[in-house]
Amino acid sequence: MVKIQDAYIINGGQPLAGEIKINTAKNSALFLMLAALLTKEEVILRDLPKLTDIMLMADMLEHFGAKVKWHERDLYIKAEKLTSTKAPYHLVGKMRASFVAIGPLLGRCDESTMPMPGGCAWGPRPIDRHIKAFADLGVEIIEEAGDFMFKKQGPLDGIVEFEAPTVGGTENVILAAALGEGKVIIENAALEPEIVDLVDMLNAMGAKITGAGTRTIVIDSAKELHGVDFRPIPDRIEAGTLMLAVAATRGKVVFKAVNFEHLDSVIKKCYEAGIKIEKLDDSSFELDATGKLYPLDIVTKEYPGIATDLQAPFGAFLVTVEGTSTVEETVYPLHRFKHVADLERMGAELSLKESTLTINGGKLIAEQLHAIDIRAGGALIIAALAAKGTSTVTGVEFIERGYEEIDRRLRELGADIHKSEIAKSITGTDGLSKLSIPPIS
Ligand code: EPU
Repeated sequence: MVKIQDAYIINGGQPLAGEIKINTAKNSALFLMLAALLTKEEVILRDLPKLTDIMLMADMLEHFGAKVKWHERDLYIKAEKLTSTKAPYHLVGKMRASFVAIGPLLGRCDESTMPMPGGCAWGPRPIDRHIKAFADLGVEIIEEAGDFMFKKQGPLDGIVEFEAPTVGGTENVILAAALGEGKVIIENAALEPEIVDLVDMLNAMGAKITGAGTRTIVIDSAKELHGVDFRPIPDRIEAGTLMLAVAATRGKVVFKAVNFEHLDSVIKKCYEAGIKIEKLDDSSFELDATGKLYPLDIVTKEYPGIATDLQAPFGAFLVTVEGTSTVEETVYPLHRFKHVADLERMGAELSLKESTLTINGGKLIAEQLHAIDIRAGGALIIAALAAKGTSTVTGVEFIERGYEEIDRRLRELGADIHKSEIAKSITGTDGLSKLSIPPIS
């Protein structure tokens, strides 16, 4: 029997043109959804992206007992009564962000049980900083048969000092301490805009949290939180990926609904590469990559640096630019380069030493490609859009976790891309799939 899988079939080489609206941020929305567990009242989250991760999180909220309703893109959550504090393995295993449910469950119910979260295809993603933070706050933690059981022994009170910043760890502690009776200070907190968004929403619900966006966050626990109507920030990673796709195809596109501040490091690198960005108003700009472009040296860093989630998309863009570029990964050193093998098969001249990829850019040829995670998927789509000829990108299930209807939205920019089912023969675990083409539908 022939097994089938989804694939994007991309006939590359067309410069992207037109206008695109950026969605609200997945990596913010997921935690805003969890914050809704902290109140009995209704929380409305506006204009959420319809992504598999968002749907999984909605399932998770329902599993805990919340009522969840969609009205088009608006999500209504009412967690009047929680009926479970144990996260199901099949959801946690699929999405690491679900580990951050410990926070609101501790805040609302004083306990929670979590299976060990699944790693990512690119490598191990530890949770030690989350565990240590809760232990430092006096939470009892018992590990049994692959489950972690967390139990508050009294109000959360004290200082959590992260040895190095963690976005999820900071979110977990904020969510645990927002509701209750103590006072928690987070030192060496993550600075990401998604943390500021979470705190803005919690404060609008009645929380007393200061310092978000700095290294010290102070949470004076509130006795009660109430409902809120909130819209997440724009998705800076989606915006960055699409900007690099336009650049890789030497296109010219207007981006709408963006946050300039959150894109500052990307915009600066675009200027350095010779890409023109003209601000049209407070939330839109035109990106013009039709002129001569230059190689870049990229180093990923925590915010406000270049996001690790844009490391692979930057690499894919830079293989289209003549000259020598480098891309260094410092957030997940050693682990986040599995897409490189696919870029190499497209004819790119690459060398990877430790956590730095050196790229001798030029032309790309179409290939059969396989995404092993969301952002590698974004990168392979960029490369396929730039390469003349027909490429096939599988691993669609990963891409759809982070990029909503990427095929339709790129088609609206003039790309020749469609989703189709193709036959699957042997798919390796290393991202190097061996597919039997052609499409069967
Ligand atoms: N780390 C530890 N121990 C921990 C937690 C983190 O060693 O307990 C390390 C990680 O291995 C990594 C670094 O700390 O080297 C930063 O990890 P962080 O905890 O900040 O990442 P995260 O919260 O698990 C979020 C995003 C990721 C993004 C990272 C870094 C969500 C749902 N995920 O993950 O986004 O790469 O921050 O910015 O917000 C994606 O959207 O594709 C994605 C993977």
